[in-house]
Amino acid sequence: MRLSLLTSLAALAFSSYAQSPSADAYVASESPAAKAGLLANIGPDGSKASGAKAGVVIASPSTSNPNYLYTWVRDSSLVFKTLIDQFTTGEDNSLRGLIDDFTTAEAGLQQTSNPSGSVSTGGLGEPKFNIDATAFTGAWGRPQRDGPALRSTALITYANWLLANGNGTSYVQNTLWPSIKLDLDYVQNNWNQSTFDLWEEINSSSFFTTAVQHRALREGAAFAKTVGQPSVASGYTTQADNLLCFLQSYWNSDAGYVTSNTGGGRSGKDSNSVLASIHTFDVDAGCDAASFQPCSDKALSNLKVYVDSFRSVYGINNGISATAAVAVGRYPEDVYYNGNPWYLSVFAVAEQLYDALITWNKQGSLDVTSTSLAFFKQFDSSVTTGTYRSDSSTYSSLTSAIRAFADGFLEINAKYTPSNGALSEQFDKSSGTPLSAADLTWSYASALTAFAARSGKTYAGWGASGLTVPSQCNGNAGPTVSVTFNVQATTVYGENIYITGNTGALQNWSPDTALLLSAANYPMWSITVTLPASTVVEYKYIRKNNGQVTWESDPNNSITTPGSGSATQNDTWR
Ligand code: NOJ
Ligand code: NOJ
Repeated sequence: MRLSLLTSLAALAFSSYAQSPSADAYVASESPAAKAGLLANIGPDGSKASGAKAGVVIASPSTSNPNYLYTWVRDSSLVFKTLIDQFTTGEDNSLRGLIDDFTTAEAGLQQTSNPSGSVSTGGLGEPKFNIDATAFTGAWGRPQRDGPALRSTALITYANWLLANGNGTSYVQNTLWPSIKLDLDYVQNNWNQSTFDLWEEINSSSFFTTAVQHRALREGAAFAKTVGQPSVASGYTTQADNLLCFLQSYWNSDAGYVTSNTGGGRSGKDSNSVLASIHTFDVDAGCDAASFQPCSDKALSNLKVYVDSFRSVYGINNGISATAAVAVGRYPEDVYYNGNPWYLSVFAVAEQLYDALITWNKQGSLDVTSTSLAFFKQFDSSVTTGTYRSDSSTYSSLTSAIRAFADGFLEINAKYTPSNGALSEQFDKSSGTPLSAADLTWSYASALTAFAARSGKTYAGWGASGLTVPSQCNGNAGPTVSVTFNVQATTVYGENIYITGNTGALQNWSPDTALLLSAANYPMWSITVTLPASTVVEYKYIRKNNGQVTWESDPNNSITTPGSGSATQNDTWR
């Protein structure tokens, strides 16, 4: 009697920290819990968000150890991207009022001067604000330049829906576009400056930040065209190309993973890179490695290296087979709260794998390359490089094993989720007990996006398809300025004027890739380029006519670029 009472008490205590181990059951119970948990943290009516202004997302209701009762631009934008995706795909039609509140609240934050500056002097890089939408003035890791990129991505998704539904066109033009443009201009003008990473610890360049900035400017360029701003669009495209080029530099080809930060002295194995892949997933882009698509060989190789780095650092991973899912966190060297698994990092691994499955299914095949071979060997030690069509047995066995592996990550979170579905930030690496901020809004959003990917749900692409990485990267070494070159030159029919010079932005004296000027104001030819600031730049104009190249006479032209802003150089062909 006694013993059985104790046994059932123990079972009760256990059940409050362990849900059913099956991924299906977890998705069924956690979906509504995560949605409710997320909505509870949004002002003004969220049940745990009292005091938050309308549309303001609190990071967590926790007021001590840690105090997260603030609003972060990153967390809020990722949370609202999730809601906007649900709204615009018809999954939840009730969200429009809340989304409008969000757009208003964020436009207000943009205009709120803060320790990073005012709206026009860098204030958009401020990572967090008080929940009444006033500036947070304490010491912090600032600026964090992913916020404006993530926010504009969320807003563009909503604005595109409004336009497509012939609904609120003037609201888009007069209210959303100005706000989106502020964020995109900030990204365009500052992407090459150092930034605190998304974990608010290292001030350098950061893969996640670069990746989401690239996405923002790429989709921002298309959106600018939609709202009738082609010259703004072309400025965004120029910097998107530079970002795509810079993005490649994080890849560590010897070790097969992305070094997530250029500073900080860590291994660089980091959930940063997995989050970058899922938040820049474009279902139309196939398994493109340049944009680090979830099924690309680089992103899969990176995923394995990242996951494996946690196998021996968390006690709760002991005894788990080397090819099964394990608990993962931000990065293996983490010491915040002693360094533990994070729910959102675990969900992100599952989501990348579900995204990969969606794309393979869509394209009807999967590729095993020398870069991704180690990833695939986890599921079939005899697999070799090659393309496996969806009607092959190798494709079937690999994709079922990968889906089971992905489900395994959900089951890890399921095991450490209390029975009421509450998701904090972390769970203890030795005992599995929930830790740090309770009811982390971002944890809930990460559950919802992983579940949506598991169910095969997809969203509109953002322009990652068919991109070419420029052969020469420009502008990532320091501040840049925009310089317009005008040259008076009469030409014969079929002849065009180009510019080249001694810097990457001017194609390093290459006549083949020299930049074409526009003859819109013939006989004046013009081009605006982004050049390093405060630098002496040498250049020449050239003529090309049917492959025939004529250079200007010597000596080289030269200018000294200004320290900031823009400049115009007026020349006459020599
Ligand atoms: C609070 C930050 O939000 C967190 O990311 C960081 O790890 C700790 N401060 C320690 O720097
Ligand atoms: C700490 C995390 O490191 C950071 O990414 C997040 O924005 C804040 N907590 C708020 O959730």
